[in-house]
Amino acid sequence: MKKNQPLPKPTYDWITDPSVFNIGLENPASFRHQKPSEYNSISLDGNWNFFWTVNKKKQPENFEKLGFDTSGWDTIQVPANWELNGYGIPIYVNDRYPFEKNPPLIPEDNPTGIYKRKVTIPKNWENKQVYLVVGAIKSAAYFWINGEFIGYNQDSKTEVVFDVTKYAKTEIEITIQAFRWCDGSYLECQDFWRLSGIEREVYLVARNRVHIVDHHSIATLENDYKDGKLSLNIKIRNTSSKAAQGEILIKITDASGNILVTSKGPFNCATNAELDVHFEQLLPQIKPWSGEHPNLYGLSIELIDSTVSLDKIENKIGFRTIEIQKNQLCINGKPLTLKGVNRHEHAERNGHVITTESMVEDILLMKKFNINAVRNSHYPNHPEWYRLCDEYGLYMVDEANIESHGMGYEEESLAKDKDWQEAHLDRIKRMYHRSKNHCSIIIWSLGNEAGNGINFEVAYDWLKKQDTSRPIQYEQSMEEANTDIVCPMYPTPEHVEDYAKNRGDRPFIMCEYSHAMGNSNGNLKEYWDLINKYDCLQGGFIWDWMDQGLVTQKDRKEFWAFGGDFGSADIPSDGNFCINGLLWPDRTPKPALEEVKKLYAPVKLSLEEGSKGNLKIKNEWLFTSLQGYHLEWTISTEIGLNQQGKLQLNTKPDSEEILVLPYSLSDLDKQLDHFLNISIVSDKAEEWAEKGHAIAGEQFKIAHGEINVKIDKYKSKNCISKSKSYWVLTDDELMAQIDVKTGLLYSLVSKEKEFLLEPVVPNFWRPPIDNDFGWEMPKKLAFWKNAQQNVELTSLEGNLNSVTAILNLAEKDAEVHLTYRLVNKATLSISAELKIVNPLPLLPRFGLYMKLDDALTNLKWYGRGPFENYPDRKYAAHIDNYEAKVSEQYVPYISNQENGAKQDCKWMELISENRAKLKISSDKSFAFSALEYSPKQLNRTERDRGRSYELTKGRGIYLCIDHKHMGLGGIDSWLSEPLEKYRVEAKNYSFTIFIEID
Ligand code: GAL
Ligand code: MG
Repeated sequence: MKKNQPLPKPTYDWITDPSVFNIGLENPASFRHQKPSEYNSISLDGNWNFFWTVNKKKQPENFEKLGFDTSGWDTIQVPANWELNGYGIPIYVNDRYPFEKNPPLIPEDNPTGIYKRKVTIPKNWENKQVYLVVGAIKSAAYFWINGEFIGYNQDSKTEVVFDVTKYAKTEIEITIQAFRWCDGSYLECQDFWRLSGIEREVYLVARNRVHIVDHHSIATLENDYKDGKLSLNIKIRNTSSKAAQGEILIKITDASGNILVTSKGPFNCATNAELDVHFEQLLPQIKPWSGEHPNLYGLSIELIDSTVSLDKIENKIGFRTIEIQKNQLCINGKPLTLKGVNRHEHAERNGHVITTESMVEDILLMKKFNINAVRNSHYPNHPEWYRLCDEYGLYMVDEANIESHGMGYEEESLAKDKDWQEAHLDRIKRMYHRSKNHCSIIIWSLGNEAGNGINFEVAYDWLKKQDTSRPIQYEQSMEEANTDIVCPMYPTPEHVEDYAKNRGDRPFIMCEYSHAMGNSNGNLKEYWDLINKYDCLQGGFIWDWMDQGLVTQKDRKEFWAFGGDFGSADIPSDGNFCINGLLWPDRTPKPALEEVKKLYAPVKLSLEEGSKGNLKIKNEWLFTSLQGYHLEWTISTEIGLNQQGKLQLNTKPDSEEILVLPYSLSDLDKQLDHFLNISIVSDKAEEWAEKGHAIAGEQFKIAHGEINVKIDKYKSKNCISKSKSYWVLTDDELMAQIDVKTGLLYSLVSKEKEFLLEPVVPNFWRPPIDNDFGWEMPKKLAFWKNAQQNVELTSLEGNLNSVTAILNLAEKDAEVHLTYRLVNKATLSISAELKIVNPLPLLPRFGLYMKLDDALTNLKWYGRGPFENYPDRKYAAHIDNYEAKVSEQYVPYISNQENGAKQDCKWMELISENRAKLKISSDKSFAFSALEYSPKQLNRTERDRGRSYELTKGRGIYLCIDHKHMGLGGIDSWLSEPLEKYRVEAKNYSFTIFIEID
């Protein structure tokens, strides 16, 4: 119980004193999730009088005084970020401070916002205990009621609660002054928009003088994980003038509201005192909570004075046991794999102020895409988030609001400076107390990127003492003692395997991996092959869930802004580095999310080698059988379905079985590839997906067709005519002109229609993706960009039906031989051969590029699709016949870059509305992209310039045909190249395409 000590006089010195971070606050306590109306509350959301200035010297004097005249002030919405409402500039920086680093000092110009409003207190609150709750306020704030100072706060992501009973008479006036920066900002150096103000709800709540101030429910499993055990600590507070006596009534109900337990016991609490009550109960045959089956029970705790209810808490609890057994994290006795994402609280229009609807949307999307875990990167979240994750079943890592990235991890690190110890601890305590009752939290995280040292050792010990029911992780502890889980960020697959093979004594769960910036998330499969192989590798959290773009206007057009888009050029910014999501800022999934869904699927399928339809089904769900799901299979070829069938499933949880699919291989067409396609489909609707939703799918090639290369019918026919400028290959249907100066195919005409808008050129360059900038590909591989622009014809030969051009690249470092041949009716082949003369850097790609008539708006292909895919991100994209519009192929990455490719194609066609058709096939499988934007338009020379909202469609269809294309990479976006097996070495390559016009 807090003593009624007089508060110190507020001083601005606190803003830069790391030992002062909260004054006058109530101790942190667990959420109560009842709706406000049920517990006597008054919402203070909405308009407040508001005064804002960049320097407190310009603030009005005595603003905190009761009755201070606020006419002339603005009004601001609560909750809302200042900077998105015209007060200051939104700043996006990653790992540095947006001000000069000199802890604990902050800039002289420290924007401040003063909030003021009156509230009428209802008559019936007269004898109540009244608390003021501010859900979250950034960064430091002073609070007054009726002109009297009531307290001071830092830690912008947990509740600020004051006991304001003594003021709550008739009408009160609340004044809050917040500052954008304080010493606490040194602990809030997270990589996100640095915004300020009141970010979550504000309300007053009235309780009886005798009430529950906190409760701690630990609901676990006993007796071989069959029975539930509830261990409950309740803290009762009596602020009335006499001792309080009564009864505590505890009820536990099942999901249908049936009462399982009722327990009554007396309590006796002295005046102005607090009382701890303990309660324990065993519940036989409980339905455990898990992400798969989020079984919840109702817990109600009521204080009763004879017949009057004094206070009542009604929360949901879930019984589950989290433990580390040997080197594995387990839930309810079973090793758990976390298929996770990192999630920031972000709204495209409201910054850090988010809605419950958006949280539900996130959860449903995660569930649909097989994501089972979320890390609250990098701070405690809105209370609703915990309630919803309990309810829908999502495993959660709750993280304290500590990141001092800008200090680095060495001697300067605040983790090593004892002056900052209490401030570290306070943030951890507040995280722990508010959300400790939530079953979805399975791991605590001490913070992010804040170095390691004594302050985290102390924090780890403190947290361990409070909570033995959950492990603790901290990335910066690496493999030191103060982390129960080894949770590095962005390890390479090699590093992951090295840990598993050579150390492997603790669970290994990547707190961040597969950096989803732009067109990324290559080699996800390689990570998961390892995770599936080694016991101690238990998954990871992709960085991150959603692009943090902010909707902004330019020339009346809305677009998604990132760092540097606001304010003057000297505003610090880390550009587009906040655009790293699997979703666009409006929550539309990007193509990479399909790959995530596939690798995260709860059911894995494999075909026993050499077998005829022996399919191994592995059900990775720990507690869910596949009853309720069926398997649909087809055998497909280029010309359609060959056989199909359905099977009801019943595979037990966490087990494998072999099913025999009754297909026959006897009468397959030898000319064609045959694929076995499988999907696992739900029989009924789930809370998170409709009936018929496919949770997993797989494709196997079960028979290889013979590649039928087009026969050169015109071999001995004279098709060539030579003029001074062009050599022409013609038959009745087609005329192909080769430019004598360049050796390039200049024109392709059929039925008097020109298909080419520009000559066909060899293509080595790709518009750099964000990952490419990370490893300086634009610089390191610049040779190929320059080479592409400096091709020089060295020889041209032609006879009968063919023309061969030899082109030199750069200073004869490489040659390209192009052979054009009229091979068949209306069919021109182009053979391209790359010959490397001197050692050269890796190739972004090797293929042909052409600009085609924009009438060819329809697209068909046989290859991987329907969504964008790349050599190292194509596992989810199955081979099939696809049909779409060219206009649908562009993937609007916020920063322009390579996009829209389809791998492993046998052919592709472009068709105009009046049925003119251009078909491309090849002697080898190829990739292509057909877009309405040119590679030149998509090319960026600087990472932060070149934006999708600025693009205008060109006149034409831009077609890239790739024989080789480098992988996307996806380890990180600042260092790593694509994995070796997805790089394209500068070697000799050759391929032939056939262009057929119809
Ligand atoms: C990590 C960090 C994240 C984010 C990410 C890069 O180092 O924890 O907050 O910065 O890298 O996008
Ligand atoms: Mg950081």
